[in-house]
Amino acid sequence: MIQNRKNQTTLMYRIMMSLLEVESLDEALSESLDTIMDSFQSEVGAIWMLNERTGILRCVLSKGEIDLSEITVENGVGAEGHTTLTGESVTKPVIAGAASVDGCIFDEAGLKTTSLLCVPLNTVKKILGCVIIANKKDGELYTAEELDFMEKMASLAAMTIEEKGLIIPETEHHRTIISLRDITKDYKSGDSILHVLKGINLDIYENEFVVVLGESGCGKSTMMNIIGGMDYPTSGQLVIEGKDFSHPSEKDLTEYRRNYLGFIFQSYNLMPNLTAKENVQFIAEISKNPISVDEAIGLVGLTDRAGNYPSQMSGGQQQRVSIARALVKNPKIILADEPTAALDFVTGQEVLRVIEKIVREKGTTVIMITHNVEIAKMAHRVVKLRGGKISSIKTNLNPLSADDISW
Ligand SMILES: Nc1ncnc2c1ncn2[C@@H]1O[C@H](COP(=O)(O)OP(=O)(O)O)[C@@H](O)[C@H]1O
Ligand SMILES: [Mg+2]
Repeated sequence: MIQNRKNQTTLMYRIMMSLLEVESLDEALSESLDTIMDSFQSEVGAIWMLNERTGILRCVLSKGEIDLSEITVENGVGAEGHTTLTGESVTKPVIAGAASVDGCIFDEAGLKTTSLLCVPLNTVKKILGCVIIANKKDGELYTAEELDFMEKMASLAAMTIEEKGLIIPETEHHRTIISLRDITKDYKSGDSILHVLKGINLDIYENEFVVVLGESGCGKSTMMNIIGGMDYPTSGQLVIEGKDFSHPSEKDLTEYRRNYLGFIFQSYNLMPNLTAKENVQFIAEISKNPISVDEAIGLVGLTDRAGNYPSQMSGGQQQRVSIARALVKNPKIILADEPTAALDFVTGQEVLRVIEKIVREKGTTVIMITHNVEIAKMAHRVVKLRGGKISSIKTNLNPLSADDISW
């Protein structure tokens, strides 16, 4: 609780000293956030820094029971993004002069925020990021005086950061193979227009496992279909391997789908009158650069079942045949739309083991849509979609293996 001006001055002094004394930015920010959360009795707190070049906000520090570290959001998205884009503080409930924005990343991560203060880390010249705290431990709400004080402290911190020339290290460099820039998709529905994708910005890297989460109807499959060359964006730019693919020719599109991508869906779509091996063989024959059919069958662990017809196999086995069929093309990317949705835990896990293996052993990139938040723990990155926009992207520093998850 901030009781009086003297306390405020003391607090300001403590933060200034911690910022001036330490060499590493991490340490300085950590001490400052501790001091703020302690004084304001907050359950959770986070500091976000803006990368000016990419327009991406990264959570560099997260305290309390909800861990936001390694999450990124686009500038402008949510309370954090609103603050760094406009320089306006966001509060909940609204305090005179502040803005209110529907949700912050704490909400996204499953915390119910009852009160929050999100203030810019701004210097005279620019906005470096923002500081956010939420949920007073005694259940009280933040006051206008506290907001004012938070703003002052954040500015002080920002100016110190700038003056010391402390910089946030760039994250590991990845090779981008697909870029989506401001992708929108509208559908006509009767007289009105349905805005399904409202400006998607996403880079897909080489050899990563990306999981896409989001409520039913939020646009996951639409985004996947655009990435997969099965649908055109209404506007925006799609870049594949450095080449603009926003308006590809039919020929380029067919080639892209045939040679660069493998698809897996919830339904297996196997030919019932062909054996497992023949289902895979059939695709190998029309592919430009296939791996051997036996290798593909072996990778999904079905060598012993190669002669079986789909009707003689379990759902999990049939799904693995469909993975072998995607894999035999030797694709750079496999797009998987809810591949385990129709499977129980045991057979679903078999499918995930195969996916894990092909990312690891074949260097394939897998983009997988799922409803299952447990599966997201296996991903290198988790992309959350909400209402046609990306609400957050989280990098898992320690992805779990298929054997270590359960549902
Ligand atoms: N071809 C289409 N024509 C009209 N509306 C569509 C079409 N495809 C999808 N939609 C609508 O777009 C929205 C998003 O769909 P989708 O991307 O399939 O969502 P998700 O995969 O996240 O469940 C839904 O409201 C859906 O009804
Ligand atoms: Mg879908």
